[in-house]
Amino acid sequence: MKKTMIAGTIGLMFAMAHGSALAAPPADWGKVEAKEITLLYPGVSPMEWILGDLRIDKARHGGGRAFKKGDACSDCHADETAEMGRKIVTGEKLEPKPVAGKDGSVPVKVQAAHDGETLYLRFSWKQPAAWAGDKMDDKNPVKVAFMLDAGKVDMAERSGCWASCHADSRTMPEGKDDKKKYIKDGNLSGGVFYDLVQWRSGENKGFDGHVADSRVPEGGSALTSAEGKLDGDTWTVTFARKFAGGEGDVKLEAGKTYGFGFAIHDNHTAGRYHYVSLGYKLGIDAKADVTAAKQ
Ligand code: HEC
Repeated sequence: MKKTMIAGTIGLMFAMAHGSALAAPPADWGKVEAKEITLLYPGVSPMEWILGDLRIDKARHGGGRAFKKGDACSDCHADETAEMGRKIVTGEKLEPKPVAGKDGSVPVKVQAAHDGETLYLRFSWKQPAAWAGDKMDDKNPVKVAFMLDAGKVDMAERSGCWASCHADSRTMPEGKDDKKKYIKDGNLSGGVFYDLVQWRSGENKGFDGHVADSRVPEGGSALTSAEGKLDGDTWTVTFARKFAGGEGDVKLEAGKTYGFGFAIHDNHTAGRYHYVSLGYKLGIDAKADVTAAKQ
């Protein structure tokens, strides 16, 4: 990410010249309202199962028909994600490879702010329990990603990231190794895509990509910085992302809301072995689950 590095370097020069620490606005995150969202471990619960078209462990998704008719995941599940994650991580449901000692859910504090040109998003959470497992991503102990949708991805408004989660994707039991996340009828030039932004702890940098007919980790130009750190047992990751960008970047405007979902890969995991949110709304000066107010 050349741009991120350049932005980081300029920021550092600025910080040195002014004798201040390199910090993204707002100056005091303690004053910004924090919304707590509990991520769940989803096991094998691809969209094909969500919609009720696929059985897993001989079971069909109880909410499939209502979801198809227009209910959102959060209408039914918002207050029970910790319990869902527990059932799945222990192998009671939807997980053919349960992992002993792994937490089923992670509560995350989400904060947002903007200055008229840049959106600042901050995620903080307690490091989940350690467990012994393969290092699927040996470079990165932790990754955090969020996706934005401008209302064009079918079902994203009601499902967060789930519209990109499929039974034939990499790391799924029936998956193909070369098949990444995708959305049905995804079309980058037609605007049918999720904007995907990620920070990776080992590489210690941000990636500005998108998901359309496939997941592309880079190529966007909206992300200006991504910084994260572990302080005691608490991770804090802050993104700065310009309202306007280029290809694969959702253009943000004050007064509007966007589909928003996010995920954390803990303990060197990759692919489906992450903690994910249900779908939420992010508002820019607009009432939503998470609202970025102007600072
Ligand atoms: C109309 C309500 C409804 C909607 C909407 C809905 N679900 Fe469900 N979901 C259910 C029911 C009912 C079950 C079965 C619960 C049980 O067996 O105890 C279930 C089960 C699940 C499970 C398995 C874990 C568990 O607790 O049983 C997952 C994962 C899940 N849903 C995810 C989703 C996601 C993701 C969405 C949106 C894309 C969604 N659901 C939309 C009602 C709903």
